[in-house]
Amino acid sequence: MSDSNEFRFLKACRGEPVDKTPVWFMRQAGRYMKVYRDLKEKYTFLEMCKTPELACEVTMQPLGVLDIDAAIIFADILLPLEPMGTGLEFTAGDGPVIPRPVRDKQAVENLLPVNAEEQLGFVGDAIKLVRKEIDGKIPLIGFAGAPFTLCSYMIEGGKSRDFTTTKLMMYESTDVWNLLMDKVCTMLVDYLKMQVNAGAQALQIFDSWVGCLSPHDYQQYILPHLKRVFDSLKDFKVPIINFSTGTSTMLDLVKQAGGDVVSFDWRIEIDEARKILGANQPVQGNLDPVTLFAPLPIIRERVHDILRRAGPNGYIFNLGHGILQHTPVDHVKAVAEMVHEFKYE
Ligand code: CP3
Repeated sequence: MSDSNEFRFLKACRGEPVDKTPVWFMRQAGRYMKVYRDLKEKYTFLEMCKTPELACEVTMQPLGVLDIDAAIIFADILLPLEPMGTGLEFTAGDGPVIPRPVRDKQAVENLLPVNAEEQLGFVGDAIKLVRKEIDGKIPLIGFAGAPFTLCSYMIEGGKSRDFTTTKLMMYESTDVWNLLMDKVCTMLVDYLKMQVNAGAQALQIFDSWVGCLSPHDYQQYILPHLKRVFDSLKDFKVPIINFSTGTSTMLDLVKQAGGDVVSFDWRIEIDEARKILGANQPVQGNLDPVTLFAPLPIIRERVHDILRRAGPNGYIFNLGHGILQHTPVDHVKAVAEMVHEFKYE
């Protein structure tokens, strides 16, 4: 990792020429690594997120192992829900649980305004520590959940298969839905600005579950709110990645919402996506995380195919979604090397 790597990721975000394709992995810190599991024996996930020294340590864990071009701060998209007043728990096996879901007007009105600096300052402190420790080698990405994905957790009370309660609020109580989205967007802008002020050099907005919606509903109920978040962050001059999954049939709308980079999953090939997004739109993705379990020759074939389809510029190699729990570390390491070794003819 040399100093020029710092620019490789940021340059690709801006669509500028790069010496090699930059690569990082969503969920590059986490349970697939033994060092993470060892630390998890001593602390809960939330303790790790809220203790800047531990969050810094976990952020740095993949850096010694993988040849990656960006770090992402160790935190969780659901952390702001606690200061908003819904509660937040992580139970083994069940994933996140929101003990006081928000399902009617009264509950939305009761949500508390968040002062990110005061109530989520531990994320900013972790960012400051990582910036010091990383010593200019690669840039650090801050992040937050997108309004839809966050609201879906707040309404459903946890993970959901079909998002019925969320969609019914959208359809039947649109004013309540808009009020909830509005409160979440206000929180997000403040929270993301705090991260940039602390030293985040790029931001990623995770809309993990928005692909459950029809393009019609995305346009009507999501786009205006999400656009407001992106527009409010423009002055900050750090590149912003608009990440979603399951949205290959509405990438034009995703692009309209905003962001410097559009990140999509494996359900569309990059050259096809580029036809929709325009050749100059920087993109990120799109290897299926399950491919990382396959034998190396198959992985190599997929990685090379993606790189050829993407072309040399305006592309950041990543998965289409986060690294899965039992992924072999050696394969993740090999993919980063394959990306850096690849040469365009
Ligand atoms: O990418 C990184 O390395 C940064 C860390 C990061 C985490 N969560 C750590 C984490 C990031 C960027 C996230 C984002 C996040 N959190 C998303 C969006 C990305 C995505 O995967 O769609 C979502 C939907 C969440 C909510 C969340 N947090 C879920 C669904 C889970 C998994 C629950 C489970 O038990 O499988 C979490 C917990 C979580 N977040 C873990 C990690 C490392 C696992 C916690 C553990 O050690 O048990």
